[in-house]
Amino acid sequence: MKVTVKSVVLFVLIALCLVSLGSAVGEPISVADALDSARQRLAGTYTLEQLNAMTPETVTAELTDAERVALGTAHIRFIVNVPVRVYVLHDKRFGEPVPSEPFWIQERGFESTGLEVLCDGEPFVAYARDFEAGLVGLGVNSFSGDYLHYFVAVKAAREGEVLEITNLQPACLQTTVFEEGAKPYPLPDWDPLERVPEELAGATLVQVDIAWRRTTRLLDYFTETEYPATAQADNIVLTWSGCPKTTQGIQWRTSVETTKGAVAYLNTADHNTFTPGTPTIVAAESTLVKTPGVLNQPELYTHTATLTDLEPGTTYVYAVGDGTENGWTELAEFTTAPETPEPFSFVYMGDVQLGFPRWESLLERAFRERPDAAFYLLAGDNVNRGNDRNEWDALFHHARDVFDRRVVVPAVGNHEYHGGPPDLYRAMFHLRENGPESVPAKQAYSFEYGNALFVVLDSNLPPETHTEWLDTTLGDSDAVWKFVMMHHPLYSSGPGRDNVWLRDAWLPVFDRHHVDLVLQGHDHAYLRTGPMKADMPVESPAEGTIYVVSVSGTKLYDQSEHSYTAVGFVDTPTYQVLDIQLGGHRLTYRAYDIDGNVKDEFVKEK
Ligand SMILES: [Fe+2]
Ligand SMILES: [Fe+2]
Repeated sequence: MKVTVKSVVLFVLIALCLVSLGSAVGEPISVADALDSARQRLAGTYTLEQLNAMTPETVTAELTDAERVALGTAHIRFIVNVPVRVYVLHDKRFGEPVPSEPFWIQERGFESTGLEVLCDGEPFVAYARDFEAGLVGLGVNSFSGDYLHYFVAVKAAREGEVLEITNLQPACLQTTVFEEGAKPYPLPDWDPLERVPEELAGATLVQVDIAWRRTTRLLDYFTETEYPATAQADNIVLTWSGCPKTTQGIQWRTSVETTKGAVAYLNTADHNTFTPGTPTIVAAESTLVKTPGVLNQPELYTHTATLTDLEPGTTYVYAVGDGTENGWTELAEFTTAPETPEPFSFVYMGDVQLGFPRWESLLERAFRERPDAAFYLLAGDNVNRGNDRNEWDALFHHARDVFDRRVVVPAVGNHEYHGGPPDLYRAMFHLRENGPESVPAKQAYSFEYGNALFVVLDSNLPPETHTEWLDTTLGDSDAVWKFVMMHHPLYSSGPGRDNVWLRDAWLPVFDRHHVDLVLQGHDHAYLRTGPMKADMPVESPAEGTIYVVSVSGTKLYDQSEHSYTAVGFVDTPTYQVLDIQLGGHRLTYRAYDIDGNVKDEFVKEK
């Protein structure tokens, strides 16, 4: 990286000004504002080809002075009470002793100490410099989104002085002791520090949010959507944001030319007559969704309607539009859940993630073979890059002939968190908000359909955020069948992928309430356990819980042998149909491949 005297002087002067002027005058613009302005300017100035050709160095040269200061000093900030030495532990894959990014490490006088530590099995190099007592500000991890996020060690510079760190920003940051076993990313699936050198042992570790590694992208950020929205409604998706018996959620999108939306619907009993009844019209809530990375359509509207006071067990026809006479789409239909339990069927699919055209064939096969299936469960990793809107455009395009007539019930996978929190997942699905208070809305929820309870969990989050709610939700329901859907499997199919923290937290809860089936994804293969209880196989399904991993897209992984595997196979995207029968309470489960061959089957009765 080329560092000019001018850039160093500018940086130091601005940073000094900011610190000395105090917070009222000297606050740099926020990292979010700096990213917004840089992204909008880049999108308005360059073609996709030019943007794709940029490097960390050339994109840094595009920043304004204010953006450069924000991105170089305002990502992580804290106040120290004594002079300190600050170590930035940076992923060694960026290069060492001069990393390819971020730009500020070298500009601000951080130097490689040669000290290394392992985190999640990767070597991190300590870059260090001294700070006086007062404000310490550090910049973003990278513009590429590559590799893991840096973490920080802080030590009092003079022996005998007691360091206090205050005013940590963002406020979610926490500190702990820098030692073997400490976790720079305080989430269960990230491994702790190993091989801590003596110089760093006992320092204060500032723990960071691993998701930030991709939230500051300026490279590999811009794209074009293959399926831009038009002024006409499309990508219609049915969901439940209320009771499946009496409500129906409908969401669709348009380009910004159409700022309003409405649904017209009619009971089919009134529709299929010589003198059809008058449809009810409900206005939608229209939301502008901004995704500056999508160069050919950085903004669009989602339109969301909630139909209420519907008759249970009733089929309705509907159309969506802009509310004007000529704006309606073709008719589609939905059916509400029955008032009292009746036999019903539903489909469950694992990760879509990649290979949408082939997945469309699998989805259409499921719909064609089993048009009676009332709704579709999707177990997360529904797209590959969850904050890239073009992928949601494509997913819904390829599901357009099914999701507008069968309700979709999604879960959050780790790929919904790609590029930051699953904001686009929340924007794309109109879901119940009856999950635990400690989990963001729509990422965990439950509903009853017929004689069954469905509980959807966000297994990306620390499980304790869900456990009490999960226990109460399962315990309060007197449903005959209890299903849980979550992304990360309790019993993994993959080699070296064991989500032990989830099993520790939730297995006792599933056992206590005798959950029938746990439907999962993430491992990109097919695995079904036999009935399990207390982490051990049990004789009959009536005694235990069966755990399934499946995949519906084209990203496929190997599988290793496990003692808990009843059925396991690889290289086969599948859809599963579950038939619930009354009278003896019988559940028939079948997994099908894209040609409609039965790949797995079992029956559970109670
Ligand atoms: Fe996953
Ligand atoms: Fe996945």
